[in-house]
Amino acid sequence: MALVIGVPKEVFPGEKRVATVPEVVEKLIKLGFRVAVEARAGEAASFPDEAYRAAGAELVATADELWAKADVVLKVRPPTTEEVAMLREGATLIGFVWPAQHPELMQQLAARKATVLAIDSLPRQLSRAQKMDALTSMAGVSGYRAVIEAANAFGRPFNGSVTAAGKIPPARVFIAGAGVAGLAAIGTAANLGAIVRANDTRAEVADQVKSLGGEFVKVDYEEEGSGGGGYAKVMSEGFQQAQRGMYAKQAREADVIITTALIPGKPAPRLITADMVKSMKPGSVIVDMAAEQGGNCELTEPGAAVVRHGVTIVGYTDLASRLARQASTLYATNLLRLTEELCKTKDGVLDVDMEDDAIRGVTVVKDGAISWPPPPPKLPSAPPAPPRPAAPVPAKAAGGHGKPSGAMTPAKAAVLFGVGALLFLLIGAYAPASFLGHFTVFVLACFVGYMVVWNVTPALHTPLMSVTNAVSSIIAIGALVQLAPDLSKISTDLARPGEWIRWLSVAAIALATINMFGGFAVTRRMLDMFRK
Ligand code: NAI
Repeated sequence: MALVIGVPKEVFPGEKRVATVPEVVEKLIKLGFRVAVEARAGEAASFPDEAYRAAGAELVATADELWAKADVVLKVRPPTTEEVAMLREGATLIGFVWPAQHPELMQQLAARKATVLAIDSLPRQLSRAQKMDALTSMAGVSGYRAVIEAANAFGRPFNGSVTAAGKIPPARVFIAGAGVAGLAAIGTAANLGAIVRANDTRAEVADQVKSLGGEFVKVDYEEEGSGGGGYAKVMSEGFQQAQRGMYAKQAREADVIITTALIPGKPAPRLITADMVKSMKPGSVIVDMAAEQGGNCELTEPGAAVVRHGVTIVGYTDLASRLARQASTLYATNLLRLTEELCKTKDGVLDVDMEDDAIRGVTVVKDGAISWPPPPPKLPSAPPAPPRPAAPVPAKAAGGHGKPSGAMTPAKAAVLFGVGALLFLLIGAYAPASFLGHFTVFVLACFVGYMVVWNVTPALHTPLMSVTNAVSSIIAIGALVQLAPDLSKISTDLARPGEWIRWLSVAAIALATINMFGGFAVTRRMLDMFRK
């Protein structure tokens, strides 16, 4: 018997998202479920009732009716007490629950003998969980929106320009915390033309910051910031002090600060003090994405935008809901992927397999028994720790800045130099004078080529080779020089003196042309990848 999936209208004040969208309704029906949607559930996210009906959902007039009908309820926000009371005994609830923050809600749900899958408790570190990772989807949308809110409150364009009426300096944006939301904010602000800097306690994000067009600002204090599972930990007092110094400097320089720093299960770290706000230029903006967890800024008021010391501090807690249509679509897809995992037989029946790590992690109540917190998931054994950097090699033994492994001892280098010199002496003594000149150029070219290629990181060899291919087609010029004086005399009579050389030159020009155009074409394609 196919289960009914019910989607109520969200009741949290101002919440515009909806737990499923028409395009996902069709897919849920293909999995064998029946889908019931409360009237106007998707209206605020621009999904009219008609679209749900067209996708095959049954429209239900009231919340009471919907909850009474549903075997499985899909929700965005944690259910209210009234909603829990409407949940059918033994039904399944899927949505954000935040069990650590809502112990009473967990008790109420258990009392309903419900099975509850909290999407926020997904073990995100499992790679197969990524398609269900609603925290990441919502953080990405929120990070983008935070920049848009900042741009809205800021009195200047983010990109710098020079106009007849004067110069507009680019906005300086500082992002505190470069997790999913922070990285989305970095990319968005950089795309708008701002100068972006960012900091995080996890040093490994520095490269990601750079790749999105930001500059990573380090705290001048050695301490590992990872607290396991890809998350941060509470830092030592020494680190925090050093970080405060750096943040104070950034606050003085920045026009916009976006804070995203969170530590799982802990209040948000206080990073921006009242004094730092005071030191900012009038008209500056702070968007505190950690407002709901207590805020990264001392003066944030959760849910509101306030002006303090001339600085607008935005503490909205509904950033994802402000992009309701896209956020709902992503969220609905995450829940669809979870439903697929729960219904591999595609017969409209859920199988909550507690042996499956991902499912075990999200299941916080199973048939009325609280099963949160879950045991840590069985992860594939950790990769071996990266080798510690070797002790610095004395400069004289390093053999230039090439590959240290192939470093040459001074004795070896001297022998090689001697052999080379002897070779040149012999060639100088016996070969025609013009040969020595060409040979010297050839040897130097080999040396320069070797140094150019081997001193570049292997990852960059393709772009390097494409452009050097194009440039090396200078061979074509050599061939042209050979050919030009007597091109008119070229014939197919290979017995004629010089004819072989002329035909070889033609072949060299043809091959070098392929190289040249191919090289530039590949270079262009690669550059296009970085262009908008
Ligand atoms: P989050 O929302 O818990 O934290 C946001 C960021 O704030 C983190 O990058 C954290 O390092 C940073 N932060 C915390 N305290 C700070 C402080 N005092 N100063 C500056 N920065 C501070 O984290 P989110 O965005 O949910 O994920 C964090 C990271 O974990 C991301 O890079 C994400 O890609 C990664 N991740 C890893 C997974 C895994 O495989 N283990 C799964 C999901 C996410």
